[in-house]
Amino acid sequence: MAKIIFYGGKGGVGKTTCSTANSINFAGKGLKTLLISTDPAHSISDVLEIKIGRKIIKIRENLDGLEIDPEYEAEKYINRIRENMKTILSNVIIDEINKQLDAAVVSPGTHESALFDKMAEIIIDKYDDYDMIVFDTAPTGHTLRLLTLPELLESWMGSLIKKRKTVSNMNKMMTRKYKEKDPVLEILEKRQERLSKIKKILIDNKDLSIRFVLNAEQLPIEETKKAIALLEKYNLPVDVLVINRILPETVETEFWNKKKEQERKYLKQIEEYFTNQHHIRIPLLDTDMGKNSIDTLTKFFD
Ligand SMILES: Nc1ncnc2c1ncn2[C@@H]1O[C@H](COP(=O)(O)OP(=O)(O)O)[C@@H](O)[C@H]1O
Ligand SMILES: [Mg+2]
Repeated sequence: MAKIIFYGGKGGVGKTTCSTANSINFAGKGLKTLLISTDPAHSISDVLEIKIGRKIIKIRENLDGLEIDPEYEAEKYINRIRENMKTILSNVIIDEINKQLDAAVVSPGTHESALFDKMAEIIIDKYDDYDMIVFDTAPTGHTLRLLTLPELLESWMGSLIKKRKTVSNMNKMMTRKYKEKDPVLEILEKRQERLSKIKKILIDNKDLSIRFVLNAEQLPIEETKKAIALLEKYNLPVDVLVINRILPETVETEFWNKKKEQERKYLKQIEEYFTNQHHIRIPLLDTDMGKNSIDTLTKFFD
């Protein structure tokens, strides 16, 4: 079984609920599990009714939790770049670049890179400490971009390193400082090393299970089709579908009968279309998810 599990899907379909229930199930089987939220909405805290933050905390026996704050990580990420720059650039240029970096903190691309860096760091650092690492992510687009980042970044980093090597060699020839290591090159190479490590775990070793949560409705079905097709292009197969919020078999009143009829049609579509995935069906509960109700869902992940 893959060790790294990613939960994706449209907003509101039940990613947080299902990733939490799945993690509790793993923990119950004696698997040491780390549940990580990367959604700024931070709802694993709400489901478990416990405060989870930037440091790993124990939730229950065999279950630890962590919430990554993309904004905080983005700021840290930019500051790290700032520090690195100080060693290699003049003050005049630094002032100008600092202004640009301040603007970059609030840009979405920075949030993603920072989030990816943080996730990669956790996967690499905690890999040996846990049997399962489960990510509850933000809505689909976000997850997809995150997962496709290693592929995109790797070729980009490769070309950066190549260019830098040319510049660095020229500098060395001109200054005759043949022995000195180029700090920029060192930073780039370190990042590339981490990137290939994470790529090895996630893609080459197939230690990743991507699970999509959806409801038996038109839009989530369409979005799931697109997401699966895109991820396949990056060699990232989605292996599990969680069909959440399924209505009871027998319902009363015309309204609910009509709803159930529609649902049956969509369930059939899901079954017929998504043949490469294992399907998990979760019933609609008559309560909101909280510390007590979440346990009733864990058995569906057996
Ligand atoms: N099977 C279910 N039965 C009843 N309520 C559910 C179920 N799954 C999710 N919910 C409720 O639906 C809402 C959205 O679920 P959530 O897991 O937060 O979705 P997401 O993380 O995908 O945005 C929450 O209020 C949650 O309590
Ligand atoms: Mg959520």
